[in-house]
Amino acid sequence: MLRSRYLLWILLALPAALMLNGYWRETLVYGEVVHASGETAVRLLIVTMAATPLCLMFPGAPLPRWLLANRRYFGVASFAYALLHAVTYIERKGELDVIVDEAKEVGMATGWVATALMLLLAVTSNDASVRRLRRAWKSLHRWVYAAAVLTCLHWVLSAFDPTGAYIHFAVLALLEGYRIWKVRFAPARGNA
Ligand code: HEM
Repeated sequence: MLRSRYLLWILLALPAALMLNGYWRETLVYGEVVHASGETAVRLLIVTMAATPLCLMFPGAPLPRWLLANRRYFGVASFAYALLHAVTYIERKGELDVIVDEAKEVGMATGWVATALMLLLAVTSNDASVRRLRRAWKSLHRWVYAAAVLTCLHWVLSAFDPTGAYIHFAVLALLEGYRIWKVRFAPARGNA
């Protein structure tokens, strides 16, 4: 398993570097960068949220444990890609009036609220915040579920073809469904 967190950060940043380089050199157009950054943000969000269900599904397996130990990096990276996605959009629109006007549509509003929630989660994804907020930290980080639902709506409502949204969020729904079943309803080991 990848032991160096610095190497993990480099790997997480690599797709962004390729997207920015492609946009700068005009080998990638606006729509491609918005698509790639948005989809990467969603995938990293799903990886972040998959850590707990996978640990429950495969107790003691090294990959889920590694994911759990590193999930804050995946979560922060997801926010960074959402930011890249939003900045690309803002740069393209160029005018505040247009951006504010479009933000009133449900498809865009859900994207903005999801980004705001992800910002809150990203800035508190560190040991100092865990210590300072204590029990409130857990409640705060439950907002990740709201961010995921809003992102799903945003994708379905704003993309030309929402098939990708249905596939990605079906995977997430299955994982979360398993987590809820396991924690609430599955008989504890030995009591079955
Ligand atoms: C400031 C907030 C946001 C803005 C302004 C924004 C803007 C947009 C726009 C304009 C599109 C449509 C692109 C097209 O023409 O097909 C889009 C699609 C998309 N957005 Fe966002 N978005 C925001 C937040 C987010 C967040 C937080 C995520 C993920 C965590 C996300 C993921 C996606 C995805 C996956 C698509 C579909 C891409 C495709 O299929 O081409 N967006 N967004």
